[in-house]
Amino acid sequence: MKLTRLPDAIAYRSEGAVEGLPLVLLHGFCESHSVWDVIMPSLSATRRVVRLDLPGFGASAPPAAASMGTYSEAIRAVLDEVSVEKCVLVGHSMGGYAALEFAEHHPERLSGLGLFHSHPFEDSDERREARRRGIEMLQAGKRDLYVSQLFPGLFAETFAKTHPERLNALIDEAKRFAPEGIAAALEAMLGRKNHTETLRRIACPVLFVLGEQDAIAPPEQVLQAAVLPRVADVHILTGVGHMGMFEAAEKSAEIVHKFWEFCAETI
Ligand code: MLT
Repeated sequence: MKLTRLPDAIAYRSEGAVEGLPLVLLHGFCESHSVWDVIMPSLSATRRVVRLDLPGFGASAPPAAASMGTYSEAIRAVLDEVSVEKCVLVGHSMGGYAALEFAEHHPERLSGLGLFHSHPFEDSDERREARRRGIEMLQAGKRDLYVSQLFPGLFAETFAKTHPERLNALIDEAKRFAPEGIAAALEAMLGRKNHTETLRRIACPVLFVLGEQDAIAPPEQVLQAAVLPRVADVHILTGVGHMGMFEAAEKSAEIVHKFWEFCAETI
């Protein structure tokens, strides 16, 4: 991993081919760049792939301010650091919220935007309440319990039962993140704005990857967003929850690859 110097220390990896349109991957809540490890070999074989740890996760310092704007500026800082003028940006869940914020502020830097189990809507009241309870748990020193309860609900039931090692690896990693960084992400998600207008205005193609059994970004909700952009590429992964990069790794890699190819051809 390398570190940017400003605004905070943001960890990133830049791998694969040097030429061509870069693909930038963002992880979700309580994850790091490593969430894409499984599908990386096929993706980085034919293009440059930049992955970063959003502030407070992986090897990145916790954010100075808890907002999606902070994440968006971290993405910009990494792109500047690695001299990427334009890219295809794909974000998993919370990474998708950050990607939408980036799309609002730096639309000229996108040749494609991918929402991987993500959407532009604000939280429901129920979700806000759950986030506030999470912040309280973290402030009460219960980080390990919090992250242990978090991951099982993200996978489709059958996958969770048959792949306990996958869940445990994510939980173990999340137990190493500073509680302040996790709480800041919850604050940032609580305060995020509705980005339906960003999707209506966006000039580049938008990818939607949905999980048929995703309880966090349910298809019936995400599909309402898929009609907003001028060009949308929509995929529903059958039998998959919120973690398609593990639950349907090959298919996910193929979808991202084809979307990138389409964006590279249309610029
Ligand atoms: C994520 O996976 O990033 C989160 O579950 C997103 C959310 O809580 O809205």
